[in-house]
Amino acid sequence: MRKRLTITKMKKMKQDRNAISVLTAYDYPSAKLAEEAGIDVILVGDSLGNVVLGYETTIPVTIDDIVYHTRSVARGAQQTFIVADMPFMTYGIGREATLRNAAKIMQEGGAQAVKLEGGVEIAADVSALVKAGIPVMGHIGLTPQSVHQLGGYKVQGKLDAEVEQLVKDAKALEEAGAFSIVLELVTEPIATMISEMLSIPIIGIGAGRGCDGQVLVYHDILQYSSPYFEKKFVKTYADIGTTIRNAIQSYVDDVKTGQFPEEEHVFNAQPAHIPSLYGGSSESSNLNITENKDLANKEVKLK
Ligand code: KIV
Repeated sequence: MRKRLTITKMKKMKQDRNAISVLTAYDYPSAKLAEEAGIDVILVGDSLGNVVLGYETTIPVTIDDIVYHTRSVARGAQQTFIVADMPFMTYGIGREATLRNAAKIMQEGGAQAVKLEGGVEIAADVSALVKAGIPVMGHIGLTPQSVHQLGGYKVQGKLDAEVEQLVKDAKALEEAGAFSIVLELVTEPIATMISEMLSIPIIGIGAGRGCDGQVLVYHDILQYSSPYFEKKFVKTYADIGTTIRNAIQSYVDDVKTGQFPEEEHVFNAQPAHIPSLYGGSSESSNLNITENKDLANKEVKLK
């Protein structure tokens, strides 16, 4: 059995140019399959709001949602390093509340680390969490919890001012003690420059090839949604949505045409056993099975 990664080993992976693979997961089976497939880190992202709960943004996701989903992921992936998102407005709202919320995610959810969106403005919170023994992953670039503030899901790092801010944010997070940073939707040259500038692993999503690792959303790489919208930065590895829809359609057809259940799906019993299943003995039963020649000589099928 392989051992769970640690934040020290992740730093070493960066030094060794050993890319870190990260995938989101939100429940027991997806986490178990990701672990079996050899993923390095699982992120219980607040993208669960979009891909699992059907919200338009991540903003409605609550701390209880994250704790609930992290708990099932932790049961499914017991040897994998699990990072869980701190949802909108559960940090940056006073030191004590931030610490209490992070502690809840770790204690009740079973995550090994938390992820927070933001740079310079949350560095003091990051520092307090790290001092309290909570590993923190930062998240800068496109930060979906600020989608309304940013004016949409736009690529970051195209303007000089944006680049300057990204560099300041990345440095502030590293100084505050973050063990890693997610860079989302950032131009490749800027993401590469930040990865080279920092000693902690930079995990990219839509940030090109120069990062120390990559993260993608489970439902995106598997096309597990309907409708599925293609994204430039995503590579899809299967079309599970179509597979599932076709399979359910076949089941519906089979039920309606009587092709399911078949002989192999039913349970058989000797006629003499049937009355007891109805709460009485064969003598006391009024089912009168032994008078029915067909039933007496054959096994009967129970519904
Ligand atoms: O919530 C999430 O899934 C994320 C990834 C997109 C990095 O933050």
